Amino acid sequence: MNPFQRPYVEEIAAQAAAALSLPLDCVAAAVELPRDLSLGDFALPCFRFAKEKRLPPASLASQVAAAFHPTRYLASAQAVGPFVNFRLVPPARAERALRAIHEQGLAFGGEKPGTGKRIVIDYSSPNIAKPFHIGHLRSTVIGNALANLFELLGYEIVRVNHLGDWGTQFGYLMAAWQREEWRAEADAAESEPIRRLFRLYVRGNQEDEHGNPALADEARSWFRRLETGDPKAVALWKSFKEISLSYFDKIYTRLGVRFDHTTGESFFEDKMAPLVEKARASGVAEESEGAFVIHTNEDGPPLILLKKDGGTTYATRDLAAALYRHDEYAFEQNLYVVGSTQQLHFQQLFAALALLGFEWAGRCHHIAFGKILGLSTRKGNVIWLEEVLDEAVERAREKAKENPELVEDIEGTAERVGIGAVVFHDFLARRIKDLEFSWEAVLNFQGDSGPYVQFSHVRTCGILRKAGSSASPDSERACATPDVDFSLLSLPEDRCLVALLEAWPEKLIIAAEEYEPFVVARYLLELSGLFHSYLEKHRVLSDDKSLTAARLLLVDSVRRILAGGLELLGVQAPDRM
Ligand code: ARG
Repeated sequence: MNPFQRPYVEEIAAQAAAALSLPLDCVAAAVELPRDLSLGDFALPCFRFAKEKRLPPASLASQVAAAFHPTRYLASAQAVGPFVNFRLVPPARAERALRAIHEQGLAFGGEKPGTGKRIVIDYSSPNIAKPFHIGHLRSTVIGNALANLFELLGYEIVRVNHLGDWGTQFGYLMAAWQREEWRAEADAAESEPIRRLFRLYVRGNQEDEHGNPALADEARSWFRRLETGDPKAVALWKSFKEISLSYFDKIYTRLGVRFDHTTGESFFEDKMAPLVEKARASGVAEESEGAFVIHTNEDGPPLILLKKDGGTTYATRDLAAALYRHDEYAFEQNLYVVGSTQQLHFQQLFAALALLGFEWAGRCHHIAFGKILGLSTRKGNVIWLEEVLDEAVERAREKAKENPELVEDIEGTAERVGIGAVVFHDFLARRIKDLEFSWEAVLNFQGDSGPYVQFSHVRTCGILRKAGSSASPDSERACATPDVDFSLLSLPEDRCLVALLEAWPEKLIIAAEEYEPFVVARYLLELSGLFHSYLEKHRVLSDDKSLTAARLLLVDSVRRILAGGLELLGVQAPDRM
């Protein structure tokens, strides 16, 4: 149930429970939203009381309606078949909702179920010396939105970037780096340091595939040198990492995303031994074909703790990382926002933790997501995220130029709209679904898109600006005194808008329970649609001062929820576009 609507439900339950002589909480639990909101604001289906009361549901409904008396929030009750439909007093409802939004913004009506609890979220987690690809973008934006969402619910969030900065692949890169002519070739082909690295990396791998055994041997020996702390190897690896990090940071800045800890896989290099020892001593791990493994389920492949050559794996490092997070952060939940292609890895990881006797294994969750399909950019076949972002901005700039009189800051607006569009696109479906990428959909100003919600926000700002300084969205004093005549907000469209605004606190809870920023995005699209149709029917600004004031407050409430909701999703809300 929506926590904000509890007082309404309580009043309904109090009356119905008295009329039927039933316990309060059992009646309260039955109150629901009617299928058709034109029938009423809340409904009480009476089926479930029929058995106990030995009366048909319809007569119970009539009993409740007959005993009804208006209260502070309840205006009327009507029996329709087995249901009782209740109506709220529109001004009282509007006043309570709009005041709450005005005073508390996005967190209005919210309880803080997360108070005193900590959630670790592992997201983004790209690999050094490689492109930041679209899958990492999904992880980044979904993880960031979930972190913001849980933060709003009172949780303390630890944002972790688990960089892929360790493993034999860096041996290949170092071996390739030693070849002057390859390096010269990469330098000539690319100007960006990260792209040079990636070229070398690809070159090294190609050579390996074409059966250059010398390179594979060199790669192994370079990685071994890195593992044993050889200064030359370490220095090289560090420089690769720095190049990658400064490249990632540019992307994070553009996306407005941050982390509390950027601890890559290498961080766990010296933290695996005790774990491996525990696995050995407890008998959970065993030798298999020269490797040291944990059988996490009967028929699947085992989790490899140590390879034949004694080296650790991605999984070993993740085991150590989970343990570290537990000991360091005492989490209530440990979340991994990673594509669904790694499902097996996380199943094995959590199962291995459980086998090792860590009761908190059940508090680790893989927040999986699907693929982005059909993405191509105007350049090349490796997709570099910054090219996608640049193209989105360029397309947004073209659109903005169509409307030059509206845009003061074309560059800034294009950046906010273009990037916002790409980010919002990730939330158009439940995360597990694959998403078809098309520029038309990403930048569709009329339909389900980020720019559509941004544009709704722009409209609220425009109205408030036009209304004059006291209601300027630039000052948080927008409509400073909600001392308006709330009875003027009683038209069906007012009531619908208030009801939808009031639904927000519950959406937040559902989104968190399901780990679905999609729920927030859908809500913002719905609110935008309802707001546009409101403006088609009603003029906000008129000569009628009281009416104008009341409607401005409504518009300002829509503005606050749209702006806050977008921000939660990591999308900027421009006030002009
Ligand atoms: N670096 C990995 C990749 O790009 C993702 C890491 C996800 N986090 C983790 N703790 N395994 O595929």
